[in-house]
Amino acid sequence: MNTQLKKILLTGGMGYIGSHTAIALIEAGYEVVLYDNLSNSKYSVLSRLEIITGVKLQFIEGDVRDNTKLEQTLSNHKIDAVIHFAGLKALGESVERPIDYYENNISGTISLLKAMSALSIRTLIFSSSATVYGNPEYLPLDEQHPTHATNPYGRSKLQIEEILADVAKSDSSWKIACLRYFNPVGAHDSNLVGEDPNDVPNNLMPYISSVAAGSMPHLNVYGNNYATPDGTGVRDYIHVMDLAQGHTSALHYLKHQAGFHLFNLGTGKGFSVLEMIKAFERASGKSIPYQIRARRPGDVAKCYAKVDKASTEMNWKASKTLQDMCSSTWSFQKKLQIFDKG
Ligand code: NAD
Ligand code: WQD
Repeated sequence: MNTQLKKILLTGGMGYIGSHTAIALIEAGYEVVLYDNLSNSKYSVLSRLEIITGVKLQFIEGDVRDNTKLEQTLSNHKIDAVIHFAGLKALGESVERPIDYYENNISGTISLLKAMSALSIRTLIFSSSATVYGNPEYLPLDEQHPTHATNPYGRSKLQIEEILADVAKSDSSWKIACLRYFNPVGAHDSNLVGEDPNDVPNNLMPYISSVAAGSMPHLNVYGNNYATPDGTGVRDYIHVMDLAQGHTSALHYLKHQAGFHLFNLGTGKGFSVLEMIKAFERASGKSIPYQIRARRPGDVAKCYAKVDKASTEMNWKASKTLQDMCSSTWSFQKKLQIFDKG
C-alpha cells in the first residue's frame, strides 16, 4: 500500500473549496495537480493560487467524465491520491435538471473510479454534504444519523457514498474518506480566492455579502417561524480554510487506514440567519436590509454537526470564528469588485 502520498489530483480544483484546499495541501508539503472543466470556475484562479503559494501549478482543463483524459492525467503526473470535488452543487437546479446532476456527479465519479482502478491508485477523498442527513431526527448530527436525501443533488451524493462503500468493500487496498461538509463560508486571507458564484448566489453568506456590496437591494429571509431561538434557520457555518485543513488531515489519516470512512466537517455550533446578518454587519460596517419571506421549500429548522469523530480519529478541529468567516467574506467581496471577471 502506498503510504507515501505526495502528488494529489484535485478534480474540481479551481472551484471554491478545491482552490482553498490546494493552498492548504501545498502549505502541508504536497504537490497538487488541478483538473477542472471550468464550468463553474475561472481560469484566473490559477494565477491567483500561484501568487498565494509561490508555486507554479499544474492545471489540466478537462471533464471528469472524459475517462481517457483523466487516466492520462493520473498516469502522466504520477498521482498518488485524488480529492474529488468536481460536481454540480445547486439544490434547486438539481430538481429542474436531474439528468445533468446524475450524469455529472455519478457518471463523473464512476469515470474517476475506473481511471484510478486502471492505474492502481487507491486513495480517494470525496466531497460529500450534510444534505445527506435530510430533516434531522436528532441534533447534533453524528455520522450514524440516518440518511435521507430530499432532492436529486442530495441523492447523487448519497448514491456516490454507497458506490464508494461498495468499492472499498470489494478490495481491501482502497482507502476512501467521504467528508460531509456542513456550510462552507469565508475566504483565504489573501483575498485572492473565495466564493465567486457565476450566477445569482443561492446560499446565505454570498447573498448577504452581495447585499452589503450593494449588488442586491436586500436579503430575503426564508421563514421566521421555525422552532429556533429567533425563528430563523440555524446552520453550522464552517470557514473554508478550516475545511481545507480537514482534507490534509484526511489524507494523513488515509496513509494508515484502509477501508471506507465517513466524517462530518463542521464546527458543531449553529447560528441563525439573523445572527449571521448581525455578525456580517459588524464585520463590514454596512447595514444589511432584509425582508421576511415564506419558508424555502426543503429547508430544515436546524442543522449542525457532531464533530467528535473527526477530532478523535483525524485530529482535526475547526478553529476560526464567525467573525473570521464574515470578515474574510467581506474582504474578498471588496476585492472581487476590482478583479478582472474573465
Ligand atoms: P464549485 O462549483 O465552486 O467547484 C466545483 C468545481 O468542479 C468547479 O470548478 C467546476 O468547474 C468543476 N466541475 C464541475 N463539473 C465538472 C466535471 N464534470 N469535470 C471537471 N470539473 C467539473 O463548488 P464547491 O463549493 O467548491 O464544491 C466542491 C464540492 O463540494 C462539490 O462536489 C460540492 O457538491 C461539495 N459541497 C459543497 C458545499 C458548499 O456549500 N459549497 C457543501 C457540501 C458539499
Ligand atoms: C442557510 C440558511 C436558509 C439564503 C445548502 C445545502 C447544503 C450545502 C450548503 C451543498 C437557511 C437561509 C438562505 C437566502 C435565507 N451545499 N437563507 N435567505 O440550505 O443550509 O445548505 O448549502 O452540499 O447541502 O443544502 O444553506 O446558505 O442556502 O441557507 O434566509 O437568500 O439561510 O433558509 O436557513 P443550506 P444556505
